[in-house]
Amino acid sequence: MESLENTIEITKESKRIGSNFLGILNDLKRRPEDAARELHVELEIINGIISGEIELPNEIVKNAVKIWPVNERDFYIISDDCMTGVKIMRSEESEKSSRIMERAGKPYYEYRDTVSSTLAPFRPEWIMELCYVEDNEANNSEIQWNHGHFMHQFTYFIGEVNFYYQKSDGVKKVAVMNTGDSMYITPFTPHTFATRKGAKENGLILALTFGNKILGDVKQELSAISSELGREFALDFSSNRQTVASLIKFHRHMCSIGIKELSKRTGIHEEKINEIESGQVEPAKQEINKIAEILNVNSRDLLPNDKIEDKVIISHHNENNSWDFPEDEKRYSFTELANSTTLPYSKSFEIDVCYDDKKDILDLRMGLHQYIYNVSEENISLNWLYGNKQYCEIIRPGDSVYIKPFVSHNFRGNGKLLVLRLGGKVVGDSQRELSVIGKENVKRAVDESMQWFDPKGHN
Ligand SMILES: [Fe+2]
Repeated sequence: MESLENTIEITKESKRIGSNFLGILNDLKRRPEDAARELHVELEIINGIISGEIELPNEIVKNAVKIWPVNERDFYIISDDCMTGVKIMRSEESEKSSRIMERAGKPYYEYRDTVSSTLAPFRPEWIMELCYVEDNEANNSEIQWNHGHFMHQFTYFIGEVNFYYQKSDGVKKVAVMNTGDSMYITPFTPHTFATRKGAKENGLILALTFGNKILGDVKQELSAISSELGREFALDFSSNRQTVASLIKFHRHMCSIGIKELSKRTGIHEEKINEIESGQVEPAKQEINKIAEILNVNSRDLLPNDKIEDKVIISHHNENNSWDFPEDEKRYSFTELANSTTLPYSKSFEIDVCYDDKKDILDLRMGLHQYIYNVSEENISLNWLYGNKQYCEIIRPGDSVYIKPFVSHNFRGNGKLLVLRLGGKVVGDSQRELSVIGKENVKRAVDESMQWFDPKGHN
C-alpha cells in the first residue's frame, strides 16, 4: 500500500507525468476510482499522481502493465533538457568529449560530440579523418569500411576529404569533397572517409545522423510485431508503377474488398485492376481518385513520390542554389546543401550572416528542430524569445546550438553557420491528424487536463 509520504512539490515535469497518467486512464475508460480499485491503492494516491503532487510509484506502473494493455514506457515522459528553447554546446566542451577510434590497429577517426537534445532526433558528431590516402581510388587499401548504420546521415565537409560509399549493387565509389560540400546517405549504406594526402590539415566532417520516423515507438512496434511480420510493411517502391500497385493492394487488403467488388464499385474493368496491381500499367489520375474514394482514403495515400532518388546524394557547394533572406533587406545569404525529397522535412543550408543591426527583429521561425554549428572564424550573436523572455548568446567558432521548433530567433554579425532542420515525429501524417483535431484541442491532446466526462452530468 502506498502512503502519502511521496508527496512532492508540483513541478512542470510532475504535472506532465500526471496529465499523461490521466490520459492513459481516459483512454482505458477508467475513472480514478476504478484505477484505485484495480491497482489496490487509495483514491487519494491516484488523484495525487494526476495533480502532480505525488511521484508516480514504480509499483503502480508494474501493476498497471500486468492488468491493462499498456507498456511501462507509456507512463514515462520525454524530459525537456532545453528549458529556454535553445541549448548550446561550447567548442571547449566538445573538445573534452574527444575519443580516437582505431580501425585495423591504426587511429582512423577522432570523434567529438556537438550539441544534442532529448527532444531532437539527431546525433551530431564532429569527426576528424586521421587516415590519409594518396589516390582517389575506391579500392584504396588504407581505407576501412563500416557496415552502414540505421540512422540517416547528412555530412558537411571541411577540408580535403574523400567520401567512399557502396551503392546498393555493391559497386564502390569515391567522391572527392572540399569545404562546403555535403552529402546525404540512406540508412545501411556502407561508407568511410579519409583525408587526401597533401592537405594542409586533417580533413573534418560534421556527421549529423538522425532517425526520421522509424524511431522510438515505431521501431518498438515493428520489433514487437516481429521483424518477420514487420518487414511486410516495406512495400515495393522500385518504380512509380510498382509503388501505386503496392499501395492499392495494401489498402484493398485493409478493407477486405476483392477485385470484383472494387471493379463493380469503381466501374474500372477487373482486368485493368489486375494489371494495375501487378504493376503492368499505371492508372490514370481519375482512376486513382475513384479507387481512393471506394477504399475510403485520400488519393495522396495511393500516389508515388514525385522522384525515386538515389540512396546517396552528393552536393558540391559551387553547384548549389543561393538566395538572400529576407527578400527586402539582405540579412542572410542561404546556400542549399544536400537534401532529399524522400525526407521532405529535413533541410540543410549554409547561412552567411551578413547583418548586425535590428537585434530585436526576430526574423527566423519555422516548425522544425534546428541544429546549428558555427563553421566560421567569427562570433555570431543569437537572439531569441521564449516564454515572453528575450535571450541573447554569442555563438563562437566551433560552438553548436539546438533550437526548438517555432522559437522566434535571429542571427546577427558576420560569419557562416551550418544549419540542419529536421521535422521530428510531429510533421507529416501526425501534423495532418493534429490539424484535423484542431488548434483549440491541441492542449488537451498533449496535456490531458480532464476526465473524458463529468460525473455530475453535462447538458
Ligand atoms: Fe556514418
